[in-house]
Amino acid sequence: MTQDFREGTLNYPLEMAGALEPPAEWAELRDKCPVAGIRLPSGDEASLLTRYDDVRLVLSDPRCTRRMDADDAARISENDSGGVFNDSMAESINSAGQARWRRMLTKWFTAKRMTALRPGIEAMTHQLIDGMVEGAAGDGTADLKANVGFPLPVWVICDLLGVPDTDRDRFARWSDMLLNLTRYGQSEIDAAKAEFHVYLAEHLETKRAEPGDDLLSALITAVDPDGGRLTDDQLVATGQALLVAGHETTANMIGKMMAMLLADRGRWEHLVADRSLVRPAVEEVLRFDANPGFGMPRYVNEDIEVSGTVLPRGTTVVCSMAAANRDEAAFDGADAMTLDRRPNAHLAFGAGPHSCLGQSLARTELQTVLDVLLDRLPTLELAVPADELRRVEGLVVGGLRELPVRW
Ligand code: HEM
Repeated sequence: MTQDFREGTLNYPLEMAGALEPPAEWAELRDKCPVAGIRLPSGDEASLLTRYDDVRLVLSDPRCTRRMDADDAARISENDSGGVFNDSMAESINSAGQARWRRMLTKWFTAKRMTALRPGIEAMTHQLIDGMVEGAAGDGTADLKANVGFPLPVWVICDLLGVPDTDRDRFARWSDMLLNLTRYGQSEIDAAKAEFHVYLAEHLETKRAEPGDDLLSALITAVDPDGGRLTDDQLVATGQALLVAGHETTANMIGKMMAMLLADRGRWEHLVADRSLVRPAVEEVLRFDANPGFGMPRYVNEDIEVSGTVLPRGTTVVCSMAAANRDEAAFDGADAMTLDRRPNAHLAFGAGPHSCLGQSLARTELQTVLDVLLDRLPTLELAVPADELRRVEGLVVGGLRELPVRW
């Protein structure tokens, strides 16, 4: 049900109009209430930002931190693990000095490296499509999310960490357990975390003895300008962080991308006819995604003014990048999908010093999946009406439960 901000605090997350449709409140909030009072699932209160300039400012401003464990920071949910927002992995990485850790990893994610990874990602996509085609149901339908969208990013992360193909399924399970806070009990989640930790610690020893051409091998020997190296704990935490940050996000984005492109047949046919649109189309689906999940919370560490409102120290703000990406002040015809939109400075990967470290890899995966599907299955179509697609219920990453297709 649509909520009216004039009647007080809004319950957050806002209800979506459909799996691909934005909440009805966004436009009015951007227009009339750019700093809106919200109540989080935990019952705590926070402020919601929906304007492009405000979201960009807060994500980039050092006065707004990720200290979601501060005593007076709002709790997101009642679940004590708090999901990806405050976790021991982040702590371990922070102890390495966030900026220093980022520099060491960013060095590896170069354009040259992404070009080198592409043939491997293409081969994995072909293999997964083969499996989907062979395993299609009697009526010729299959779930594109389960067959391609979900496994591909795990396979890519296993490759990044130099993990053998035979352990891909274990990684998929760990990822599922670490992010699905509602489906598993705390003791199961803790057990999975411990098992994953032991696996990575042992794997690290193997890599130290026999380094490969992977990111983990590179990080083991990487030395920063001050002569420092990452400790074993920090290397293990990095492996965990890459899986947590890079799996569900990309898996769900593959599903949503294909749903958005197939929901309007004209879009898909346009791409089949003009492959030069693949790159800008990927940026446009990232911008247009109305169902990316919670948004990014920040803890205000020093008073800051946003759209004329002072947010005092101690405020928790939630930045809705998806609402900002539909802001007419930043994008002409923001509520229309324009496959060749350029420029397209969307905020799907955040902004500022914490923006997505794996964005070049995510882009490479999305572009490759789209290219290979256009080659292999140009007759691809949704097997259910777009308005019957169901959202994933959960707090952290938004997505579709399944994506039934035929070809
Ligand atoms: C479509 C897929 C993806 C989306 C939409 C996405 C989105 C984001 C966003 C919004 C942030 C910023 C968090 C913040 O401001 O606090 C972020 C951070 C991050 N992402 Fe991604 N991401 C994606 C894929 C990936 C992949 C494939 C990887 C690596 C394998 C990755 C690794 C990271 C890491 C390590 C961070 C933390 C950076 C830091 O703390 O400095 N992401 N991502």
